[in-house]
Amino acid sequence: MPVTLTLNGKEQVIDADPDTPLLWVLRDTLGLTGTKFGCGVAQCGACTVHLDGTPVRSCQTYLGDVEGTSITTIEGLESPAAKAIQAAWTELDVPQCGYCQSGQIMAATALLMETPKPTDADIEAAMDGNVCRCATYARIKTAIHAAADKLEG
Ligand code: FES
Ligand code: FES
Repeated sequence: MPVTLTLNGKEQVIDADPDTPLLWVLRDTLGLTGTKFGCGVAQCGACTVHLDGTPVRSCQTYLGDVEGTSITTIEGLESPAAKAIQAAWTELDVPQCGYCQSGQIMAATALLMETPKPTDADIEAAMDGNVCRCATYARIKTAIHAAADKLEG
């Protein structure tokens, strides 16, 4: 049965097996390849998207579970928090290989939307499940603080 959802602000009707992981729908059916496949078992964060504003792992979220929800991917991020995060990422040269970074940006944006002035501990807790094999963690933390300062200022 087709599933109706809002994707990056636009209603979409998707005719696929409801047991299909959302990540597959985004990448293979809709061509939104900014969301990455890392582990497939909710352990790395590369596939992070927002479901009604909350970060979720799209590799372990199924199409049948997102009927009527609002999904945002890296391609649709446009809140002030998202813009501040993306600007800080660029200014501080956060990415190395880049593979994990859309997931990192999705998690960081959700954090700032919920907690506009996060502490180091807030950042560590929110970003804990987002793995970076290039170990860009220190730059990620600096960039989140920089984005929070920019939003505040
Ligand atoms: S691919 Fe989804 S958490 Fe790793
Ligand atoms: S920048 Fe390479 S895995 Fe994070």
